Amino acid sequence: MSGDLKLNKIFGAGLGTVFAILVVQQVSSAVYTTRAPEKMGYFVDAPEEAASGPAEVELAPDWGMVLPAADLAAGEAAFARCQACHNIAAGGADGIGPNLFGVVGGPVMHRAGFAYSDAMAAHKAEAPAWGYDQLDQFITAPNRYVPGTKMSFAGLRDTPTRINLIAYLRSQGSAGYAIPASDPARQPGAAPAGGDVPAEGAVAETAATESGAAPAEAATGAATTQTAPVAPPAATSAAPGN
Ligand code: HEC
Repeated sequence: MSGDLKLNKIFGAGLGTVFAILVVQQVSSAVYTTRAPEKMGYFVDAPEEAASGPAEVELAPDWGMVLPAADLAAGEAAFARCQACHNIAAGGADGIGPNLFGVVGGPVMHRAGFAYSDAMAAHKAEAPAWGYDQLDQFITAPNRYVPGTKMSFAGLRDTPTRINLIAYLRSQGSAGYAIPASDPARQPGAAPAGGDVPAEGAVAETAATESGAAPAEAATGAATTQTAPVAPPAATSAAPGN
């Protein structure tokens, strides 16, 4: 009799242990399930990868508006990141990368003596010149825009920094390369309210390209979509153009 009781106690203790183990298993599996990552893999803080996200959906800068307002000194400071490989002085030597004097608006592979990659040669076949958009995309993420380029630079994700930098590059041997007319379609939300009237005026003065009709059309377009306060000045500015 007392032997049976002893066995019962041992048996009960065993059951209790099994129960406790089951509980621990359940709880821990629940904990690990909720901690499972949404995306598998390690998170690496690589600027290039991050740049492939929002940068692609962002509007291209409205060069006609942003370049005349760019901060050249800030652009020169940003060029410090390029200086390990690039010289930008007129007649300066090539380094790890080609001399960049006059590169803005110039041909891709603009330095005859530099040993460019095959990747850059393939890119040149598709896009022969370094216009503002091409430069901007290249500097944002070189290896995404020109896959296989030997420019081993992760990229500059910050758009205002790139704008200042491109304005600085332009000031070094490319000042003759025209700034295009402001393009309202590139302005976020196409909000024409305050900024675009003076910007178009500035462009008309500095660039003076063939696009005399374009700003006037844009102004009348704005006048039809705008209601009360902005319409009268837009209409008067449009009148002499037409
Ligand atoms: C680690 C060195 C390195 C850094 C840093 C670097 N570059 Fe380059 N860059 C190169 C090399 C190398 C090439 C040639 C690429 C090729 O042939 O694929 C190049 C090519 C270029 C070109 C094309 C020139 C041409 O003649 O077509 C431009 C424009 C350029 N770099 C701008 C920049 C700017 C702006 C920065 C700074 C934000 C920068 N690079 C930072 C090494 C570098």
